Amino acid sequence: MEKFVINGGKPLVGEVTVSGAKNAAVAILPATILAADKCIIENLPEISDVDVSLEILGDLGAKVRMLGHNTYEIDTTHVNCTAVPDDLSRQMRASYYFLGALLGRFGEGQVAMPGGCNLGPRPIDQHLKAFTALGAEDVVECGQVRVHGCGLKGTHVFFDTVSVGATMNAMLSAVLAEGQTVLENVAKEPHIVDLANFLNMMGADVRGAGTDVIKIRGRKALHGCTYSIIPDQIEAGSYMVAAAITGGNVLVKNVIPKHLEPITAKLELAGVVVEEYDDAVRVYRAGDLLATKIKTMPHPGFPTDMQPLMTVLLSVAKGTSIVTEGIWENRFRYVDELIRMGANIQVDGRVAVIEGVPELQPAPLRASDLRAGAALVAAALSAKGTSEIEEISHIERGYERMVEKLQGLGADIKRVKKPASAMPEAL
Ligand code: EPZ
Repeated sequence: MEKFVINGGKPLVGEVTVSGAKNAAVAILPATILAADKCIIENLPEISDVDVSLEILGDLGAKVRMLGHNTYEIDTTHVNCTAVPDDLSRQMRASYYFLGALLGRFGEGQVAMPGGCNLGPRPIDQHLKAFTALGAEDVVECGQVRVHGCGLKGTHVFFDTVSVGATMNAMLSAVLAEGQTVLENVAKEPHIVDLANFLNMMGADVRGAGTDVIKIRGRKALHGCTYSIIPDQIEAGSYMVAAAITGGNVLVKNVIPKHLEPITAKLELAGVVVEEYDDAVRVYRAGDLLATKIKTMPHPGFPTDMQPLMTVLLSVAKGTSIVTEGIWENRFRYVDELIRMGANIQVDGRVAVIEGVPELQPAPLRASDLRAGAALVAAALSAKGTSEIEEISHIERGYERMVEKLQGLGADIKRVKKPASAMPEAL
């Protein structure tokens, strides 16, 4: 078991390069199954969710070969199993993308049924709605969800709620179905467009990704291709917040500034300067941080995955800020940790009212999920003194070499092993 030890209070200065997008990678890797051929995927982030996805592919019968840093060749020609091993699928919620891909190619697939998580209930009814509309049946038993149905037929699906996962899974299951599928009220996140671009590179006919309606003309077969994953919007936003809260000056490289607009707009309202270049943004503070109001919404609204980071930033902004969580029922668990650092935040359901304090104090901290963990890192970087963050495996699910990247910006952060005697702790 390891933890981060951070000696905060130093401005971050320099350049940091953003890795490939986690939430695109975890859908594109299962999508390679649809090709029954070799795909080369570039700009894959080195994170544990990608490791798990590659392991699942190998277990299903794909040949996975590392060609270089962040580049893998995946040959799914001989995939011969349609059930994702329980232990692997339970390590990562996004293993549900294997359902859509396996259903699309083989007419059947099975993964562990996802339960609720730290963010609240995580239903997959909209995923199943799309599968059944295409002609599949689903069975949930013994903690597993199994879908099966040969000869899927194009259909019309109107989603009851805007869901990233259901939109992606519907695309995966429809690209090889017979005829046209129309998906309405879909998610529009950059990773939806990235998956559509990847599917089209494999020969699929997916149109409209990035709008409310996606139209798919089913193909008889797809083929392999070489594809480079987009930069991670949320990793970029995390370094933007870390630069701003430490009063630093950071050039965040390998980004698509258009994808960052919802984040940039709110940072600017909070008194942060964001200079845009072709594929980079420079972030620094003009003066004091200012209070603002934020509500998380599906893209192009402010992303829920940036909510914990913005709450940290606003905890040291002058005045009263209000942050409303519009996507998840329970995404303020980390606030208790911030209060232990001296933040003045009151949470009532999905709303957090933040009275800015001049600065946060160092403390021993515990990450409750991926983005909460990243937010605590930003908080600890700003607090003068030594903070320790436990349960960093959450953070390493989605941030490639975070310690090295922050050290490159001058941060005093290291990953240390927790001594065995200190490991069991009363909760
Ligand atoms: C994706 O989760 C991301 N994960 C999440 O990022 C992100 O917070 C979320 O989208 C919203 O942007 C991945 O891409 C792997 P949803 P997903 O389906 O697809 C409800 C991170 O930190 N809903 O868009 O699971 C659901 O309860 C993670 O990187 C249904 O009701 O999210 C939620 O309220 C955390 N029925 C809302 O829709 C369904 O069938 C949005 O969920 C599906 C979802």
